[in-house]
Amino acid sequence: MDKYIIEGGKPLYGEVEIQSAKNAVLPLLAASILTDERVVLHRCPRIRDVMNMIGILDELGCKTRFEGDSLVIDSSDAVSHEIPSALAKELRSSIFMLGSVIARFGKARIAYPGGCDIGLRPIDLHLKGLKSMSVEITEDGGYINCSCVKLKGADVLLDCPSVGATENIILAAVKASGYTVIRNAAKEPEILDLQNFLNAMGAKVAGGGTSTVVVCGVKKLGGVEYTPMPDRIEAGTFLIASAMCGGEMLLKRTDANNIVSLIHKLREISCKIAVKDDKIEIKSSGVRKSPKIVETMPYPGFPTDLQAQMTALACISEGSTLIVENLFETRFKHVPELIRMGADITVRGRAAFVRGVKTLKGADVVASDLRGGAALTLAAISAEGQSSVTDLSHIDRGYSDFEYKLTELGAKIRRVHI
Ligand code: EPZ
Repeated sequence: MDKYIIEGGKPLYGEVEIQSAKNAVLPLLAASILTDERVVLHRCPRIRDVMNMIGILDELGCKTRFEGDSLVIDSSDAVSHEIPSALAKELRSSIFMLGSVIARFGKARIAYPGGCDIGLRPIDLHLKGLKSMSVEITEDGGYINCSCVKLKGADVLLDCPSVGATENIILAAVKASGYTVIRNAAKEPEILDLQNFLNAMGAKVAGGGTSTVVVCGVKKLGGVEYTPMPDRIEAGTFLIASAMCGGEMLLKRTDANNIVSLIHKLREISCKIAVKDDKIEIKSSGVRKSPKIVETMPYPGFPTDLQAQMTALACISEGSTLIVENLFETRFKHVPELIRMGADITVRGRAAFVRGVKTLKGADVVASDLRGGAALTLAAISAEGQSSVTDLSHIDRGYSDFEYKLTELGAKIRRVHI
């Protein structure tokens, strides 16, 4: 197990280049088995979730290799419809392999993913959508078995705008017979990125990024070379780091349109933010008014994946802040660790009430999920004194070269193996 040792209290100055989006690359990898032809993903981040998804593709019989930072995938010899349970449990988002594996093989078998550290993570909407496309689904001993003679287009209404369910149904629909309409679809930018990728393969998908997605099934999909969109959550994480520590930071390879809700919040608390092309520049004195209220919502509302980082910022803001987490049931596991650093936070159900303190104090804290781990790292970098953040396996799931990028910005952070 690894941990960070951090000497906090220094402002951050410099530049950081944003990685390709974890939550775009994962569905693109699932989509890669929809063709027998070569697929190349440029600027593919070697983060743990991506490497696990590549492991799943290998188990299905795909051939994968990196050429520099480009991932080359050849699925012509893919033979297995069984998504390996160890990897499926490791990677919850493997559930949206179902749509593409069924589309490829007419059947799929996957271990029930179960809950994780941020909530129950149900998959009822995934299964309901697939059933409406003529997929037979049975469950035995913790496994989900899917089979289908021919996927048929359907008119699907999602009870809630689930990102994964939207992606799963799109992946099943692109080679189904007829039209599929997904109503109350998730509008996250990663859905539009998936649409662009699939259409570059010859699919006919429209409406990605809106609440209604329409897919006209085609017989065959071809190969593609593609560069996924930049990671809006990584970009947001660095913007919040700047707001917490003070200094000046230039983010390169971003799309500010995808994090408008965060940029507005940071401007409201006196950060100076300028956007030019794919760059975002932030200047912050390190003194912050409180954000007052942060309520997570489906896109384009405030992203749940930036809630933990924003909670850390609220801990050292002037005044109090109400954080409301509407998406996931238990996404406050970073709170007890922030309290160990001197934060003043009261949690009641989905709400956390934060009273700002002047500064946090270094402490030994433990990460229990991906974004909570990032939030604790930002808290430690802004705090007075030395901290350790243990169990970096969570951070490694979604941030490439995190400590390297922070060091380049002037943070005193190093990784040690324990
Ligand atoms: C995706 O997860 C992201 N993961 C999550 O990012 C992100 O937090 C989430 O979307 C919300 O934006 C990937 O894209 C790989 P959902 P997903 O289905 O698809 C309920 C990170 O840190 N729901 O949109 O699992 C569910 O309980 C990760 O990068 C059902 O009720 O999220 C939740 O309340 C964490 N039934 C809400 O929808 C279902 O069948 C949103 O979940 C599916 C979901």
